[in-house]
Amino acid sequence: MRSVIDQLPGSKVREVANAGLGRDDVLAFWFGESDEPTPLFIREAAVKSLQDGETFYAHNLGLPELREALSRYTGSLHKPVEASRIAVTSSGVNALMVAMQALAGPGDEVVAVVPVWPNLTAQPVILGATVKRVSLKVRDGAWCLDLPALLAAVTPATNVLLVNAPNNPTGWTLTRAEQEAILAHCRRTGTWIVADEVYERVYFAPGSTAAAEPPHGGRTPFRGAGAAGDVGVQSCAPSFLDIAEADDRLVVAHSFSKSFLMTGWRLGWVVAPPVLMPALGKLIEFNTSCTPVFIQRAGLAALAGAANFVPGLVSRLKNCRDTLLPALAAVPGVTVAVPEGGMYAFFRIEGHTDSLALAKRLVLEAGLGLAPGAAFGDEAEGWLRWCFASNDPKRLTQGVERLAKFLRL
Ligand SMILES: Cc1ncc(COP(=O)(O)O)c(C=O)c1O
Repeated sequence: MRSVIDQLPGSKVREVANAGLGRDDVLAFWFGESDEPTPLFIREAAVKSLQDGETFYAHNLGLPELREALSRYTGSLHKPVEASRIAVTSSGVNALMVAMQALAGPGDEVVAVVPVWPNLTAQPVILGATVKRVSLKVRDGAWCLDLPALLAAVTPATNVLLVNAPNNPTGWTLTRAEQEAILAHCRRTGTWIVADEVYERVYFAPGSTAAAEPPHGGRTPFRGAGAAGDVGVQSCAPSFLDIAEADDRLVVAHSFSKSFLMTGWRLGWVVAPPVLMPALGKLIEFNTSCTPVFIQRAGLAALAGAANFVPGLVSRLKNCRDTLLPALAAVPGVTVAVPEGGMYAFFRIEGHTDSLALAKRLVLEAGLGLAPGAAFGDEAEGWLRWCFASNDPKRLTQGVERLAKFLRL
């Protein structure tokens, strides 16, 4: 076996979840998904497709009608994108992998903004590339980009810049000004940007709207729980697709998992420049050949229902965030910032520095399942991630009570 694969670390989130195996009294917030199932109208579209006998191979890049629908959907949020620049993939993580396979190999340099969901940084390592990590900085409990440090790290020797915003686990979101600076810099260095924007719709900044409005401005301060912040019909975080040209060296990875509660379906897509599309077609052929048609039909139904479904989901997630955050912040010793996007509270507790050990103790002694910060890189050691996506916000309050009781003991 290749030593690079042998040396890949196992998932520390799984390690914590395994510590709770066999216990049905654990309130689990460790994985990045809601406890709410996929809406029925989406499931029904898949069932109908199967009943219609759509059980055959499909085009490598996806059903033409799904690519067209994704083009319209993307254009409703950002600048217009031709369907020919869209490839349907078998999940967001698969979208990221085929992009990375196209762009980074042995001897290549990838700069990654961290902490981040570990799959992103593992992929270039698997492919033999070197990953240079640029850490976000903590200011007043909130994670922020050190833009000069990032720009200094990306040089003409950098093949790919990997950035995920809204960010898992920190909730940090790129501002328009930061995106512009990064894009201009990468144009100068000839570096590809691989932007993971799977949480773009899970964005809560008050007043955030579609690109029909003037481009998203800088960071909008959170006005506190219960504030009038309308998550809007078209809530959407700033995207590189708002500012880039079609032939820029930019690949944006997307997923149906988060905005449509479709984690188990494995459906995603990439937006890429025309020059990359033949390579993506070949790589999809050699990875999965295509995404199953019945899954793509579910994706078509999801997009057709997006305007009705997504705003309600984002409102529910905002309610979850605004239930968890004040309660968590009130626990003595806890430092936490309100995330602008994503579905995670990322926090630390005074006096606790070993996040894996603490997360395991919380499972065993408090019945509370959280993800250890160390799972997202050494930069996040000492922190804990709490996924607040829940159909029942009372579970979040109960979880905070368990944490507070554990800390008092
Ligand atoms: C930052 C980030 N990118 C990509 C993904 C991949 O999503 P999926 O493979 O379910 O489409 C996730 C899932 O948690 C994520 O957190």
